[in-house]
Amino acid sequence: MRKFLIFVIQIIPNPNFIFSIVIYFFLITTMNMVPCSSCNDLGHVKSSVPLISFLEKVQETALDTFGSVNFDPKLYIDMSLKFNLSKTEKEFDSLKRIKSGKVSVKDLSGFIKMYLNEAGSDLVYHEPTDFEYEPSGFLPKVDNLKVRKWALEIHSLWKNLSRKVDDKVIENPDLYTLLPLKYPMVIPGSRFREVYYWDSYWVIRGLLASKMYESAKSIVYNLISLVDEYGFVLNGARAYYSNRSQPPLLSSMVSEIYNRTNDLSFVKKSLPALLKEHKFWNSGAHKVKIQDSKGCIHSLSRYYAMWNKPRPESLTIDKESALKLLNDSDKQHFYRELASTAESGWDFSTRWMRNQSDLTTLATTSILPVDLNTYILKMELDIAFMAKTIGDSLIAEHFLEASEARRTAINSIFWNTEKEQWFDYWLSNNCEEVHQWEAQGENQISFASNFIPIWIELFNSDDSTVKKVVKSFRSSGLLCAAGIATTLSHSSEQWDFPNGWAPLQHVIVEGLARSSLKEARSMAEDIAIRWIRTNYETYKETGTMHEKYDVEACGKFGGGGEYVPQTGFGWSNGVVLAFLEEFGWPQDLEIGC
Ligand SMILES: *[C@@H]1O[C@H](CO)[C@@H](O)[C@H](O)[C@H]1NC(C)=O
Ligand SMILES: *[C@@H]1O[C@H](CO)[C@@H](O)[C@H](O)[C@H]1NC(C)=O
Ligand SMILES: *[C@@H]1O[C@H](CO)[C@@H](O)[C@H](O)[C@H]1NC(C)=O
Ligand SMILES: *[C@@H]1O[C@H](CO)[C@@H](O)[C@H](O)[C@H]1NC(C)=O
Ligand SMILES: *[C@@H]1O[C@H](CO)[C@@H](O)[C@H](O)[C@H]1NC(C)=O
Ligand SMILES: *[C@@H]1O[C@H](CO)[C@@H](O)[C@H](O)[C@H]1NC(C)=O
Repeated sequence: MRKFLIFVIQIIPNPNFIFSIVIYFFLITTMNMVPCSSCNDLGHVKSSVPLISFLEKVQETALDTFGSVNFDPKLYIDMSLKFNLSKTEKEFDSLKRIKSGKVSVKDLSGFIKMYLNEAGSDLVYHEPTDFEYEPSGFLPKVDNLKVRKWALEIHSLWKNLSRKVDDKVIENPDLYTLLPLKYPMVIPGSRFREVYYWDSYWVIRGLLASKMYESAKSIVYNLISLVDEYGFVLNGARAYYSNRSQPPLLSSMVSEIYNRTNDLSFVKKSLPALLKEHKFWNSGAHKVKIQDSKGCIHSLSRYYAMWNKPRPESLTIDKESALKLLNDSDKQHFYRELASTAESGWDFSTRWMRNQSDLTTLATTSILPVDLNTYILKMELDIAFMAKTIGDSLIAEHFLEASEARRTAINSIFWNTEKEQWFDYWLSNNCEEVHQWEAQGENQISFASNFIPIWIELFNSDDSTVKKVVKSFRSSGLLCAAGIATTLSHSSEQWDFPNGWAPLQHVIVEGLARSSLKEARSMAEDIAIRWIRTNYETYKETGTMHEKYDVEACGKFGGGGEYVPQTGFGWSNGVVLAFLEEFGWPQDLEIGC
């Protein structure tokens, strides 16, 4: 160990960095020892902070009082206090109750006005310093003037979505559920008032097309500060998201920014956080060992929230969904599945359900997901590349090995030679330390996630794999008039048919476009054109960019799920700009549907 330390000290001058590496190696050698005590509920759960518990009470009372029409539970958990909690709570408890906790509309509205600040007032507008109305070199391949004009409007939306945390929050964080992040950020929009984890990757892709490098880095610095504080990137920048993460794309953000800016010091500052995050996804309940049919043991990851109560931002909805469960242990298990599904980013989808028409059968923690492991493989490759770039061959080598192991695991556990795609694997319901792969664990249903590994160069540079994937993707039923459907199930959940989501279009298209096969590249371009058209047409009709689109026909936005359709919208804007940057738009190609 001592020899190793001296070696590290000689090659890397930054003491913080050395510390992280030492911690990292310590942790990777100890993390195999985590015992598997209970099959269903690993991971400790601490109680909610008092502010969150109080705002949950306000949320439940508001539902009883105002009724369920247009009710958004998140609105109440995002409010902040005008006075300290004990005074506020005393006032709230002394409101006159009519029956079963119900307060009159007048009394509750009066209380909220007097004692609480409106949701969203904890963030203030921030003028991005690197915004220009038409940056030089903006989308050089877009020749069509109509498209160019529209793209500049999308570009100008970065201004609308740019925020920073109000100084009041930083001075008095106990009154807010918003976390006191220091740097400016870009938010998704509408009810998503704060910065989100995986959304930020596509926001950043758009900001890079918009040449807004400082705004892009600033988002990453905020996310890194969350890793410093919590050990992982939170789902979003609120205290009530501190029990789960989201699809891990921090390394992808850093490497894309580095690619455009060549900023080595940015990479150096980011690497310790990436090492820490890698540990988070490869230890404790997130880590699963599985033995394949040939007897090799692999290590893969799953989504697993450290939470077994209703999600505070959706408490009233989660309690309602859990009503049909009869005892507390079943409810706790279900709440953990709800939070773990939120960690997956696909909340909600039949992809995670044992019974497609029963949300209480969510079983996300029993699934080894193709997409999550693809993102972690990317993380390992990114870390190896960055470590090499800054001259740290030890870390680089370690992560190259880790990526080789995960590639092998992905091929062995997920790849189906006959169906020529990667399938999620369902763990059988048992408590084993090492799971045993069985053919019946493969989930052979068509999901967009079955094709996400093609995003990774290891796969898209292999022509024979790409050929197979193009063929199986074409016959999957997922390719629709206006883009890639998420699944084929008509469930009315938002990560199901007929919704298409910008991030899924982007990773699959980008993967196919990187191939040397003409067939894959033209498939990528065809999907991108459909996606751009439907975004354009819907924007012309509604005046806004949407969170999701209905892929059945050009010009329709999406619906379903537990809240009304949202506009703004960070990742959709980012993907339109990234597609236009990659493929351009010729003068004579019609943009309308
Ligand atoms: C879970 O979130 C709560 C806030 O809601 C926080 O107080 C607690 O520390 C978190 N627990 C874990 C294990 O992260
Ligand atoms: C909260 O505010 C009230 C009234 O301003 C004050 O009397 C009380 O001491 C405060 N409590 C705490 C815990 O700060
Ligand atoms: C963006 O902000 C500008 C200026 O505040 C406003 O006029 C415009 O309506 C906003 N656009 C959207 C789509 O929100
Ligand atoms: C950025 O990415 C492109 C495309 O993958 C690659 O050709 C280029 O070399 C990269 N640039 C840097 C500085 O890494
Ligand atoms: C809870 O109810 C389920 C059936 O819905 C049952 O299988 C389970 O044993 C019960 N658990 C406890 C702790 O009572
Ligand atoms: C699936 O759930 C629905 C709705 O709760 C129920 O009617 C049906 O019987 C369930 N199917 C199976 C196979 O359990």
